[in-house]
Amino acid sequence: MCGIVGYVGPQQAQDVVVEGLRRLEYRGYDSAGVALVSGGAIADAKKAGKLANLEKELADRPLPASGTGIGHTRWATHGAPNDVNAHPHLGHDRRVGLVHNGIIENFADLRARLEADGHVLLSETDTEIVAHLVELQVASGVDLTTAMQRVCQVLEGAFTLVAVDAEDPDRVVAARRNSPLVVGLGEGENFLGSDVAAFIEHTRDALELGQDTVVTITRDGVEVTDFHGAPVEGTRYHVDWDLSAAEKDGHDWFMRKEIFEQPRAVADSLLGRRSQAGLLQLDEMRLSDDEIRDIDKVIIIAAGTSFYAGMVAKYAIEHWTRIPVEVELSSEFRYRDPILDHSTLVVAISQSGETADTLQAIRHARTQRSRVLAICNTNGSTIPRESDAVIYTHAGPEIGVASTKGFLTQLVACYLLALYVAQVKGTRYGDEIDEVMRQLEAIPGHIETVLAGAEQVYDLAREHVGTRSVLFLGRHAGYPVALEGALKLKEIAYLHAEGFAAGELKHGPIALVEEGLPILCVVPPRGRDQLHEKMISGIQEVRARGARTICLAEEGDTRIEPYADALVRLPRVPVLLQPLVATVPLQLFACELATALGHDVDQPRNLAKSVTVE
Ligand code: AGP
Repeated sequence: MCGIVGYVGPQQAQDVVVEGLRRLEYRGYDSAGVALVSGGAIADAKKAGKLANLEKELADRPLPASGTGIGHTRWATHGAPNDVNAHPHLGHDRRVGLVHNGIIENFADLRARLEADGHVLLSETDTEIVAHLVELQVASGVDLTTAMQRVCQVLEGAFTLVAVDAEDPDRVVAARRNSPLVVGLGEGENFLGSDVAAFIEHTRDALELGQDTVVTITRDGVEVTDFHGAPVEGTRYHVDWDLSAAEKDGHDWFMRKEIFEQPRAVADSLLGRRSQAGLLQLDEMRLSDDEIRDIDKVIIIAAGTSFYAGMVAKYAIEHWTRIPVEVELSSEFRYRDPILDHSTLVVAISQSGETADTLQAIRHARTQRSRVLAICNTNGSTIPRESDAVIYTHAGPEIGVASTKGFLTQLVACYLLALYVAQVKGTRYGDEIDEVMRQLEAIPGHIETVLAGAEQVYDLAREHVGTRSVLFLGRHAGYPVALEGALKLKEIAYLHAEGFAAGELKHGPIALVEEGLPILCVVPPRGRDQLHEKMISGIQEVRARGARTICLAEEGDTRIEPYADALVRLPRVPVLLQPLVATVPLQLFACELATALGHDVDQPRNLAKSVTVE
């Protein structure tokens, strides 16, 4: 949700900043802009729409050479996505240029005060007032760092701010509260970015910043303080992926590339999870065996796709550990006065580690003395930093706005957590845990098999270009898969799509079924329970009313054949692990259908990759 870049060094700042914005564009693409410090003035350019519009503007009207600059790619909150509301915003005298990610909650008061003092504000944004406030401070004689510290003390809400001062050409100053910001550490140059993708082609050494910090970068130095000027330490780390991970690698979309990366991502997430003795080990987890034995309830909080991963986790955790699990949307969690105590384990699932709803939910949980475990893909992000324990998912950077490998690796982490708790609590025998681990370790190969059949799914997708509505059915762990399949289609194909628990259909939604309505059915594996047969009953009910069924069913399932208008085969895996293979054709279906409809798959309208506002 908004991408932010800052640079000081010997290179052309415009090039470094625009390149950084290209890598952050997945965070928002309502507008883009840059501001450079040159010859004692701020030179800026900003354009509504995608970064390409800004690049065209810069090609037509190049900015002067400069080694100091900031940039922004916007996901609009305050004010329409037009040129005027685009960042950077400048102070009254064009001395300070500033970009912002987040929401300043007391902006109306601050704006009224500025206007009463004669300031003319050009935009509808909350950001422009901060540019004016910082400029007032530097005009009073303090440096940009002190100015930023003072202004942060009066701001409420969530923000990452990055600013330059026309009269202090070798300094970029940034601040963060509840919004992401990392420093890239170079040789004779330094960088700022909403995430490391912004500067990964220049350096893989980064500095993680704590909450409520102000950071000043110059060519040769990085200084971090709190909002009152007291020095604080950042945490240095080395990024374990490189530029190639942030490129499309011959694919038309990042999303498609990331779908095809899933065998590797799942394998990486499983790597090193077993000790030499064969016991499950979760090194980074930081919860003692006693703390785990103490857990008598699990509450999973997450949003969107991560929430569906949480729904799958409920089946796994309850089955293997017999601990009751609740799954809750993070945006709803703290408003329902949840019952929490020290023996409740709150599991926050977040690909980005920055989702504001989830962050606020874990903060609430911690005030109630619950332990919080984060399942996260982004090293150094806020949610794992504020949690008691973490399991990283090792999917590598996910750039497509629609989550794919993020989801599958979250599932892996959830299974690992469930099995680990079962191991510690002794609710499952070691050989059973071992058997599930072997089944999990076979999953990357199974995903390869599904991907090898991509063309069949693409053909099915292209057949549905004229479709206005698609339903998804599942049961048990296949139900969240149906919800996830529907979300993918909504997000990138802009189609009405809904997922249902197959047994629930007859209680109302079946009224939606009409002649020719496509319904994708996630068919559970045949087993001792009645799931498979009950699913077939549900499929019969919709076929009887004219629906066209596309069934995802395991190899060798001949019973399903008479009920499938189209059949996509899945490798044979246990029902609890089936989401790891059944989700993949649904991702391929959505990606191909959206492509055939001519949509921008990686940057769907109205969305942003990480949602850092509540
Ligand atoms: C998934 O395709 C979405 N773009 C979205 O639902 C996402 O999963 C949600 O916003 C949660 O994000 P997080 O995992 O980064 O917290």
